[in-house]
Amino acid sequence: MSQRTKIKALLQSQQTEIDVTVKGWVRAFRSNRFIALNDGSTNNNIQIVVDFENTDPALLKRITVGAALSVQGKLIASLGKGQTVEVVANEIEILGDCDPETYPIQPKKHSLEFLRENAHLRFRTSTFGAIFRLRNSLAFAVHRFFQERGFVYLHTPIITASDAEGAGETFHVTNFDLNNIPKTDTGEIDFKQDFFGRPTNLTVSGQLEGELGAMALSDIYTFGPTFRAENSNTTRHLAEFWMIEPEVAFNDLVDNMDLAEDMLKYVIKYALDKNADDIEFLTQRLLEEEKTKPQNERSEMTLTEKLQFCLNNDFERLTYTEAIEILKESTPNKKKKFVYPVEGWGTDLQSEHERYLVEKHFKKPVILTDYPKEIKAFYMRQNDDGKTVRAMDILFPGIGEIVGGSQREERLDKLEQRMHEMGIPTQELWWYLDTRRFGSCPHAGFGLGFERLVLFVTGMGNIRDVIPFPRFPKNAEF
Ligand code: 4AD
Ligand code: MG
Repeated sequence: MSQRTKIKALLQSQQTEIDVTVKGWVRAFRSNRFIALNDGSTNNNIQIVVDFENTDPALLKRITVGAALSVQGKLIASLGKGQTVEVVANEIEILGDCDPETYPIQPKKHSLEFLRENAHLRFRTSTFGAIFRLRNSLAFAVHRFFQERGFVYLHTPIITASDAEGAGETFHVTNFDLNNIPKTDTGEIDFKQDFFGRPTNLTVSGQLEGELGAMALSDIYTFGPTFRAENSNTTRHLAEFWMIEPEVAFNDLVDNMDLAEDMLKYVIKYALDKNADDIEFLTQRLLEEEKTKPQNERSEMTLTEKLQFCLNNDFERLTYTEAIEILKESTPNKKKKFVYPVEGWGTDLQSEHERYLVEKHFKKPVILTDYPKEIKAFYMRQNDDGKTVRAMDILFPGIGEIVGGSQREERLDKLEQRMHEMGIPTQELWWYLDTRRFGSCPHAGFGLGFERLVLFVTGMGNIRDVIPFPRFPKNAEF
């Protein structure tokens, strides 16, 4: 059997008049003569020219959209428009038929909702091919960025007994028979009899364990799935998402911001270089979509311009307190256009506020620091003002929060005191507190929501479209 050549390589081939074997799925078949074949290596199809006069009509009939084919033929320079090369078929083998009557993916524009319901087949569309090739490149770029800087990739546990963010949004892990849960004499669930002998859950973050690694390896990062049972049915939330969490010993908040900004720019640049075709395709897709919107709601920049803009500008850095002042004085606030009016200091920012700052006020990515301690997790380093902590959130246009991080509280007494205030049991986190007992040092880290990054780079509007099989309330299909 001759070797298969991927379509991406064929389309770039400098050589013609060579024998090739190409395999893929039919995207279109017109005039019983021209097959557009795609194998996912690129968004572009290769044109297969069929000698229909000398081809068995029964075979021709089986060349339908979605069918899997193996084609042997000659690669030649193409005279047709839109391609430089094409394959003149010698032999076509149908590897898998595809019934055009029942195949859901027709050669026409499908709605994203429809494709979400057919997520098992949506990879076969140009849009989703581009999205998932980009997702792959971004994941690789994340590893490359950290590896080039000597970070250690640390695998933190997926099953844990802690709720790092303290938000109580965990999924329980148990192997109890749910119809017959063992109870204690006093009628409570007897977790001693459960698999781990204690209540456990899926992790919401690898940070706490990541910190343990950083306290010896200095620079670590995690990149794994995290799980949150928050009932946010939004275009920005998933119940299962991937997070990248670097943690660096001896870094302070400014180092942390520099690292995050460098990383974001690095991976976006990588995607722009590596997946230029896919980004160009998605840019055109977005332009078409924009045309359906009223003039004043259209984006000022194309997707490519937005990505370039992000690379070429410093992120705006300011404190939460400064941001509140800007929001209070803002036109939408004064005109009562915000769903959540900004009145005083101390409340959490809503996505409408974050997006106002990024999209209207600064018109570029923004890093907000020094949030009120009441709205942030227990582990953040306390400022001397007694009110704020060394937190940082990075806000992106169209997305809102993409990164959340902080300098960590490295002082044992301060950390314990904050845990007491927040009702977090110190005994259970004895291992975490040990790092503060034995050679504690300043350190900082952050979490990047990987799907939010993919959303930004692909210009898509719904996070459910940038992970292959989204998990969200009332949905765990596939
Ligand atoms: O801000 P978060 O909750 O921070 C942490 O979990 C810290 N432990 C990170 C750290 O300092 N190591 O989450 C970090 C990021 C958010 O900024 C957001 O991009 C993403 O994770 N995120 C979600 N993405 C999709 N769906 C959800 N439900 C998400 N919740 C958070
Ligand atoms: Mg956050």
